[in-house]
Amino acid sequence: MANDSLTVTDNRTGQTYELPITDGSVRAMDFRGMKVSDDDFGLMVYDPAFTNTASCRSCVTFIDGDRGILEYRGYPIEQLAEQSTFLETAFLLVHGHLPNAEELRQWTHNITHHTFVHENVRHFMEGFRYDAHPMGMLMSTVAALSTFYPEARNVDDPASRELQTWRLIAKMPTLASFAYRRMRGFPYVYPDNDLSFTGNFMSMLWKMAEPKFEPDPVIERAVDVLFILHADHEQNCSANAMRSVGSSEPDPYMATSAAIGALAGPLHGGANEAVIRMLEEIGDPKNIPAFVDGVKKGERRLMGFGHRVYKNYDPRARIIKRHADEVLNLTGTNRLLDIAQELEQVALSDDYFIQRRLYPNVDFYSGIIYQALGFPSEMFPVLFAIPRTAGWVAQWRELITDPEQKIARPRQVYVGERQLDYVPMDQRG
Ligand code: CMC
Repeated sequence: MANDSLTVTDNRTGQTYELPITDGSVRAMDFRGMKVSDDDFGLMVYDPAFTNTASCRSCVTFIDGDRGILEYRGYPIEQLAEQSTFLETAFLLVHGHLPNAEELRQWTHNITHHTFVHENVRHFMEGFRYDAHPMGMLMSTVAALSTFYPEARNVDDPASRELQTWRLIAKMPTLASFAYRRMRGFPYVYPDNDLSFTGNFMSMLWKMAEPKFEPDPVIERAVDVLFILHADHEQNCSANAMRSVGSSEPDPYMATSAAIGALAGPLHGGANEAVIRMLEEIGDPKNIPAFVDGVKKGERRLMGFGHRVYKNYDPRARIIKRHADEVLNLTGTNRLLDIAQELEQVALSDDYFIQRRLYPNVDFYSGIIYQALGFPSEMFPVLFAIPRTAGWVAQWRELITDPEQKIARPRQVYVGERQLDYVPMDQRG
């Protein structure tokens, strides 16, 4: 009997099976051969919400949730946040290695020269209601890009995949800032190729009458670091949406649009928006004990706390907290930061949170920085979607080139009625 194997006895039949273990996992399909009779479908594994199911083999991002470790392509997030830029990190995620100087120059050129969008996109923006949520605008306009680039359907063509990669990463800040200016009723600002990826985004957001926008270097670096921290996070809900939709082989704009929808929810990228609402509601540090009591009674969740994978301090939250101090030194203090820090202390020393291993996640402090920078809370998930596009594209490219992947199509355990006879309307109760 091989050491790297699992022996299973099916007590219904008394039969014993030996399943190989590879990289700490067994193949769900190996259970299918376990049957009670020839016409039995075979045993399935039941895993709602994929809490213990690996859907792919991946080389993009590594997380050790118990130790609070996050690495992109093997590089620790702390080193990337300290020394890299968002565009270099995006190259790393997509291409699997740190670029040399010429690769980075070419990559930066390619992204910079794909930031413009077709003028029709401006007209779509006009169609949204004055109070449209920017995530809805972003999701819709990214899907609409599909109609401008029909060749993007050739997902098996590496050159087309590369071109769509540049376009997706490059156009996301343009669409996001158009959505922002639509919300504010400001005229749209076109991309400025002289600026960095982040500086150009700031220009498209905030430029008014000045002939040239000059980004504040501290804010530009803080936003760039936030982009690095949000660039990928292995098989989270939106990456799973990207892969699941991408597996039927539509163009990547459609799959990215689905991923944006997944990110929008308050349990995922919408949490940073929910954190600010929660801190506003608490209003004063003196109200924290009553709020925490409500959380412990199960009346609500402490937003920005807890994670499916991290059972330790989210390493991204630690870096963001440091940057929050730097940004607030520049922009002035924020009373919500005081409430957040006090809330964190109370929660981290409370048995309810200790026993469940609930720690601050990336969203706990990011909203405070975004708010200090002057963003309305609706824009927070949009600021998450811009950098995450690099991760989604890296996951999608890995999926498309993985010979083991097929259309994603889970099984179900059917527990409903069977073989009923149709009842005409006049005979129904
Ligand atoms: N506040 C209070 N209790 C919580 C929280 C929370 N934020 N998160 C988990 N718990 C409790 C939960 O009630 C459960 O307790 P019990 O065992 O008594 O029933 C236990 O902890 C385990 O929770 P779970 O819901 O089974 O955990 P999950 O892995 O399904 O959920 C989560 C992970 C992130 C959805 C959840 O922790 C949560 O809702 N957090 C708040 C929303 C949030 O901050 N989301 C951002 C996640 S990080 C960035 C991103 O993904 O975009």
